[in-house]
Amino acid sequence: MPEQIQLPRTLNEYYDRARESMSPQNRAYFLAGAGDGRTMSANESAFDHVSITPRMLRDLGGGSTETHLLGQRLASPFLIAPFAYHRLLDAAGEVATATGSQAQSIKMILSAQSSVDINTVRSAGDDCDWFQLYWMGSRQTTIELAQMAVAAGFGTLVLTVDAPVQGVRDREIEAGFELPHDVSAVNLARFSRPRFAPLEGTQSIVFDRIAHTLPTWDDVAWLIAQVQVPVLLKGILHPDDAARAQSIGAAGVVVSNHGGRVLDRAPATLDVLPAIVEKVGPDYPVLMDGGIRRGVDIFVALAMGAKAVLIGRPIVCGLAVAGDLGVSHVLRLLRDEFEVAMLLSGCATIDDIRRDMVHLKL
Ligand SMILES: Cc1cc2nc3c(=O)[nH]c(=O)nc-3n(C[C@H](O)[C@H](O)[C@H](O)COP(=O)(O)O)c2cc1C
Repeated sequence: MPEQIQLPRTLNEYYDRARESMSPQNRAYFLAGAGDGRTMSANESAFDHVSITPRMLRDLGGGSTETHLLGQRLASPFLIAPFAYHRLLDAAGEVATATGSQAQSIKMILSAQSSVDINTVRSAGDDCDWFQLYWMGSRQTTIELAQMAVAAGFGTLVLTVDAPVQGVRDREIEAGFELPHDVSAVNLARFSRPRFAPLEGTQSIVFDRIAHTLPTWDDVAWLIAQVQVPVLLKGILHPDDAARAQSIGAAGVVVSNHGGRVLDRAPATLDVLPAIVEKVGPDYPVLMDGGIRRGVDIFVALAMGAKAVLIGRPIVCGLAVAGDLGVSHVLRLLRDEFEVAMLLSGCATIDDIRRDMVHLKL
């Protein structure tokens, strides 16, 4: 008989159980932020400053959480954010996450730093058909990675632009985090990456070695023109950058600061979201992530103008506590909470969730 797992009952219990059960190294890698963790905390606390004014006695019959994004149907307006190395948390790794997402019909974005082969993950779940990639140091290598994902059946690409170098990860350094020898970014192994000559004297690692391999808007415009599938840019925080993404043909943007893992002191995503939506207009797909811990937070992000949101660490916790079952259960709890928030606010459909229902508290 397989051991019976007593699943946590609430999202907060998932957090507590995950935190307790993880090794100090995994806790530092998955749950901490860059630097002093200010941006990571700001993402969460931004939601504390928003209240929702509910409406009563509306007819909610026939309502649903369904929405459409880039011509695709979403059962609920949230997706699993791309995050690296799921096999650090569960032996089946990204396959477990894809199985859990499939069980709830929620889309999963597979990270370029997946620790399981891309084709294996793709066939584990119909809903895992978005792929996140990084710039790979040159146009040639980046397009090869994009083409590999499209050939594997990923119909939407998400290019992450906010992490050209890793943030300052004090917590990981202090905990001595290192990848074990049997966990790696297996899908990137066959691509050539820039090799850097040893530093000499006072040379700078960032400016003398890395900077010339980083992409510019021209490179991203080129990539978008090369591929036949929609490309979203993830990691946008300024309205002008969102407008630039729109003008070069990006299918949408993800307002994100990488969950506070890169520039510590970047603004909370919820705080910058309304100005970005204002700039690009209500019809352009603006997604957001960072700090969403409950279904009611999804409601707030949508009211502030997001078309959908990405969920990171809550999924990390589900996977850490109970593998595919934990992922599925966390998604279910988020969806149930989101539905309750809709019902209690008097919203039958996603379109009913409007800006004038939320207010900023000082
Ligand atoms: C452990 C970890 C690894 C991540 N790896 C990636 C990645 O490989 N690619 C990427 O675009 N974003 C990555 N992210 C950022 C997430 O996609 C997302 O932006 C962030 O987790 C959202 O914030 P939240 O965790 O507060 O929900 C990672 C996040 C975490 C926590």
